[in-house]
Amino acid sequence: GPHNKAIPASMVDPRSARQPPDNSPLQIFVKAKKKINDIFGEIEDYVKDAVEYMHEIEKLQEIVNQERVKKTEDFVSKVHGIRDVLSRDHMKVAFFGRTSNGKSSVINAMLRDKILPSGIGHTTNCFLQVEGSPSDEPYLVLEGSTEHCAVESVGQLAHALCKEKLNESQMVRVYWPRNRCLLLRDDVVFVDSPGVDVTPNLDEWIDKHCLDADVFVLVANAESTLMVTEKNFFHKVSTRLSKPNIFILNNRWDASATEPEFLDQVRRQHQERAVDFLVKELKVCTPKEAEERIFFISAKEVLQARLAEQGQTVSTPLTEGFQTRYFEFQDFERKFEECISKSAVKTKFEQHSQRGKFIANELREVLDDIYNDAQKLKDEKLRQKKEVHDKINYTEEQLIIITQEMKQKIHQMVEDVEQRVSKALNE
Ligand code: GTP
Ligand code: MG
Repeated sequence: GPHNKAIPASMVDPRSARQPPDNSPLQIFVKAKKKINDIFGEIEDYVKDAVEYMHEIEKLQEIVNQERVKKTEDFVSKVHGIRDVLSRDHMKVAFFGRTSNGKSSVINAMLRDKILPSGIGHTTNCFLQVEGSPSDEPYLVLEGSTEHCAVESVGQLAHALCKEKLNESQMVRVYWPRNRCLLLRDDVVFVDSPGVDVTPNLDEWIDKHCLDADVFVLVANAESTLMVTEKNFFHKVSTRLSKPNIFILNNRWDASATEPEFLDQVRRQHQERAVDFLVKELKVCTPKEAEERIFFISAKEVLQARLAEQGQTVSTPLTEGFQTRYFEFQDFERKFEECISKSAVKTKFEQHSQRGKFIANELREVLDDIYNDAQKLKDEKLRQKKEVHDKINYTEEQLIIITQEMKQKIHQMVEDVEQRVSKALNE
């Protein structure tokens, strides 16, 4: 039965805001982002230098044609564009499941705060995206608007969402101060959705909200079995995306504590069905990988424990098995962080690095062309110089020959004249 227990030191969370976050798998993404951004910074400098250099020699020589200058100038804006996209790159996780399974509660537990409205009267009726913001004050932005609506509390957020006539496919963005949560600081973006059982627009949902998600979390209800509507949704997702990363959370596992005699049996059954779903039906992973994707948790308990740990609420009595479930939630978070950061690095940065390589190659070609043209021009000038030189030599030789001939002729003439003169004198 329920009994009070303090949280033992061994359970202090590695991602609690007071702890250094360096060992988090999310750092794979954070560091890769920094590195690739630095590289593009260098490429940008390099391209700018090239443009400057071209403008300089353009004035002096005819070797740099306008086309090449234009091409290089275009690289500047291209690199700038990539850096811009890069700065907005994030890791996106989207939560789906039947209504009331605890999607909003799971997100709140991970964010360690009651950010999203949940529970009775707080049914999520549109898409809600929570992302980190540099500002100290939380605010939200409705789809199709740029207006920042201030939100102080969950109550206000719920109220703001109620009073708007929102379509269930619409997206409301919640900007939450980065410094209040490490996951948000490390560029994880959370997407909460209405229950998959309440919409006829699954295709629209997928087109609008799922195609750029790095990880999907199916929040299932451990008190029942996986439903056709839930399975259906993920079948649709996996026809659009090749091998989506899917986690299955059997939430409300605390309810199992009331029937301990069936615990193992129920768990085994859920586990088997979930593995079959991922491996045999969706074919998105191997049986071994599936073991790392299925968890039995209680979002409600984790959130309560974390709020108590931060002194936001008083501790509530813990249900039997709480520690095991809490550990399993932490285990889920770790596997999730590993999965999302690796996946996001691959899908997002691979493209950027291909483009970076392409631009560097193109630029090298342009510079090579200029160098070759310059070399040709130099050779041409040398050749011209040599021609002139040869001509001068020829002329000199001719002059020498002519001079010698003249000398001989004059000599002969002089001799001739002398002979004639002496002949005349003799006569
Ligand atoms: P919709 O937005 O309506 O689709 O629901 P949701 O999936 O977001 O569920 P929500 O987080 O609003 O939770 C529904 C109710 O279940 C709330 O009253 C929660 O407190 C409760 N709940 C969530 N997780 C757990 C859990 O692990 N155990 C128990 N016992 N209750 C839970
Ligand atoms: Mg909800």
